[in-house]
Amino acid sequence: MPTKVFIDGKIVDRQDATISVFDRGFLYGDSVYEVLRTSGGRPVDLAPHLERLSRSGDAVFITTPASDVIRRHLAAVLAAAGNEDSYIRIVVTRGSSEIGLDMGLAGTSSLIVIVKPLTLPPAELYHSGAELRIVGVQVTPKVAMDPSVKSGNYLSNIMALREAKQQGAHEALRLNKEGFVAEGASSNVFVSRKGKVVTPPKSAGLLPGITRMRIMQIAKSLNIEVTEQPLHPDDVRGADEIFITSSIRGLLPITKVDGSLVADGKVGTVTRALLEGYNNYLKLVATHD
Ligand code: PDD
Repeated sequence: MPTKVFIDGKIVDRQDATISVFDRGFLYGDSVYEVLRTSGGRPVDLAPHLERLSRSGDAVFITTPASDVIRRHLAAVLAAAGNEDSYIRIVVTRGSSEIGLDMGLAGTSSLIVIVKPLTLPPAELYHSGAELRIVGVQVTPKVAMDPSVKSGNYLSNIMALREAKQQGAHEALRLNKEGFVAEGASSNVFVSRKGKVVTPPKSAGLLPGITRMRIMQIAKSLNIEVTEQPLHPDDVRGADEIFITSSIRGLLPITKVDGSLVADGKVGTVTRALLEGYNNYLKLVATHD
């Protein structure tokens, strides 16, 4: 099952996919990116991912290629890889430059498309649920860096995940500086109480996930009420059900927070209905253009 990469205008194997040490993506995380998966070989929600990439680029003045250009290269990489299903990472770096923070030093931006075989979290995690740990590493305030920009600078997220992993948890839950719940290290969070689902609003300081948006749509179609409301850590600890969302995980049930069971510790009915709804959506993507 091969990994193929589009870099420097051509498609190469994993071992030949190398980048200059003067690339600002390498030097500073000076890049924007998207991660998505295929279902039945077809990219899931490619249009909103490409829109977000373009918005991220605009926000930090990185020129991203036109959507149809990215689509063309992506189709070629997917065909070259020939995987049943793939993980896709689309990266645009500000390009190479003399070392220095000034973005005026940079040449032209560079597009990299990584396609590798899709590996999902173990099936057992979807069945029994994963653990979340509320960590001390907070989300970056919007005034420092807008969290809706999906930039390649992930050191804070990496530190948050380390804190969670050290306690044996699958994912970190990060708060904002006001102490309200924002998001995971690489996921959005939802809680359910008395059958009603709540997720933090964008103003809490989060990346508005594409999977988050899909789950909200699916919930609506299933007559499950979802609202965006500020969440306190106690709302999470006292929830009936919790789940996280991201493009690779889809919807992942959470049955433990900070070492304690969520309600009875079993995956609840609302979570199960939405998980099934999302899996049906993936099946639909696999069979429709
Ligand atoms: N990350 N919040 C953060 C900080 C993320 O990095 C991600 C996804 C999400 C969920 O967004 P989406 O549903 O669009 O994937 C929320 C990807 C999967 C990653 O970096 O691997």
